[in-house]
Amino acid sequence: MALLEVKNLGISFGGLRAVDGFNITIEKGQLYGLIGPNGAGKTTCFNMLTGVYTPTDGTITLDGKDITGKKTVEINKEGIARTFQNIRLFKEQSVLDNVKIGLHNQMPYSTLTGILRLPKYRKVEAEMNEKAMELLKVFDLDKEADFLASNLPYGKQRKLEIARALATNPKLLLLDEPAAGMNPNETKELMETIHFVRDEFDMTVLLIEHDMKLVSGICEELTVLNFGQVLAQGKTSDVLNDPQVIKAYLGE
Ligand SMILES: Nc1ncnc2c1ncn2[C@@H]1O[C@H](COP(=O)(O)OP(=O)(O)O)[C@@H](O)[C@H]1O
Ligand SMILES: [Mg+2]
Repeated sequence: MALLEVKNLGISFGGLRAVDGFNITIEKGQLYGLIGPNGAGKTTCFNMLTGVYTPTDGTITLDGKDITGKKTVEINKEGIARTFQNIRLFKEQSVLDNVKIGLHNQMPYSTLTGILRLPKYRKVEAEMNEKAMELLKVFDLDKEADFLASNLPYGKQRKLEIARALATNPKLLLLDEPAAGMNPNETKELMETIHFVRDEFDMTVLLIEHDMKLVSGICEELTVLNFGQVLAQGKTSDVLNDPQVIKAYLGE
């Protein structure tokens, strides 16, 4: 069974058909890319997959479960986590707290237990600190655990966002242009990080990306969106050599 099965997904904003007839199948453990020109509908697809937008048509099935139309928090609990095209960290909070926010979504105590700081809360809180520090170590951010998120260099903020998303223990990680604004060194590191996350966390990753070097260095399969519709789909090397794709997108 595929991890993610999307069938005939579509959404309209007023008269604009932003995404139409979008199909995608992603297997467990795959590194999959979603590419296409600006305004093609890529982020809108992520917004539908994560419950930010309710699709007008179609179905989204995660690990055999229909999650179409569910709210963002529910979808996160079902196993989809994401990062954003524009970094959305809690900039005035510490690096450690940013990861702990991801963990909170998973915690087994009630709000009241948390407010009253009952023993169960304190025990869970200690476990969360430990788990968050482990994640920070993986991303080589443990030494900066007490820094404000806003004081990290850009590339590290991107990494922190990925760490925070992973803290929710997802099955599927969505990355929206993670290399945007990165220098070549940071981009190379990011490529290694994504491979590492797949291998060490058994993660499945769907990536929106403009940097074709990164796309071909990471993704095994691709879907190309153009004007909200799927233009091509398949193995990365086949798709990148498809004359239609070159004409509509890569030849820009
Ligand atoms: N909330 C919204 N209201 C109206 N139009 C939107 C909304 N969200 C996205 N769009 C439109 O949908 C199209 C696709 O946008 P987007 O998914 O952000 O493209 P991409 O991520 O591929 O660059 C654009 O024309 C955009 O203006
Ligand atoms: Mg976008």
